[in-house]
Amino acid sequence: MKKVLVIYYSQSGQLLDISKNITNEIEESNEVGLTFYEIKLKNNFPFPWSKKEFYNAFPESFLQTPTDLVDLDNPVLLKKYDLIILSYQVWYLSPSIPINSFLKNKISKILFKETPVITVIGCRNMWIMAQEKVKKLLVHNQAKLVGNIALVDRHINHISVITIVHWMFTGVKKKHLGIFPKPGVSDKDIEESSKFGPPILKSLFQNNFKNLQQQLLERGAVRIKPFLLVMDTRANILFGKWANLINSKGPANSDKRQPFIKLFSIYLSVAIWMIAPIVFLLFLLTFIPFSKSRKRNKKYYSSVQIKKD
Ligand SMILES: Cc1cc2nc3c(=O)[nH]c(=O)nc-3n(C[C@H](O)[C@H](O)[C@H](O)COP(=O)(O)O)c2cc1C
Repeated sequence: MKKVLVIYYSQSGQLLDISKNITNEIEESNEVGLTFYEIKLKNNFPFPWSKKEFYNAFPESFLQTPTDLVDLDNPVLLKKYDLIILSYQVWYLSPSIPINSFLKNKISKILFKETPVITVIGCRNMWIMAQEKVKKLLVHNQAKLVGNIALVDRHINHISVITIVHWMFTGVKKKHLGIFPKPGVSDKDIEESSKFGPPILKSLFQNNFKNLQQQLLERGAVRIKPFLLVMDTRANILFGKWANLINSKGPANSDKRQPFIKLFSIYLSVAIWMIAPIVFLLFLLTFIPFSKSRKRNKKYYSSVQIKKD
């Protein structure tokens, strides 16, 4: 009997729906024991978010500062598994605080050790650098990354910003003003994510995950958008400076850092609405000279390879 553990955190339930669909086939198999484990925080984040809390989560998200978790003595976490599916969302270009806290907890050292892991991402559209950070945490836990499925909002970047903000601040995943598309991962992509189940099940039974990512890619598990990669990389550099500046003003509950959080929120709007179009123009101008490195990047970031520092 094979054992599979799905570890997830999801505020809206989107990632849980995706994870359930991906594991449909595994669930139906009599030869696999499937367990879901929800990461639980001592002080959970609100959903819907208030503006203040949303921006205040930035420094700790980006600096990957862990928070306290509960339920870590759950017997589910004391077993070893043939496969772990880690379903996570991205917060500020980094794995969300709940996921980061779980991966940094000492329980993960034992749970993940020498265990094949498939990462499942459900986010707006900027996940590539977050996945690089998750890869590092998995290496630290001696896990073996064997697959990655990244589901995103497929609408153009600016539309997805408008719709996700509305979703996060109201808690309702619906068409904003009746004219914008539904935010987040589309119902169709969520429903169709069950297509990833068969190759996962096959690899599990064969005890061979070598070709799994290739098979997942053939089913559309990952789409690398070169411009988003450029934005993600650049924004990581600037976010680092902002996060350290705000962090130097005091902890999350300190009033002293609030003016800087406010400044960051203004900067974020300027970056999205004014700087991003300029970067896009530069991206187009350098499209031909960078075609080789674009190809190389596409191949690497679609894969489960891990860069050595
Ligand atoms: C504080 C915060 C920051 C976020 N930052 C990003 C981001 O940098 N990139 C991205 O693609 N999505 C980002 N998202 C969207 C999430 O990855 C995710 O799609 C959304 O929160 C729904 O996840 P859920 O399953 O927890 O409901 C952010 C969401 C929140 C709440």
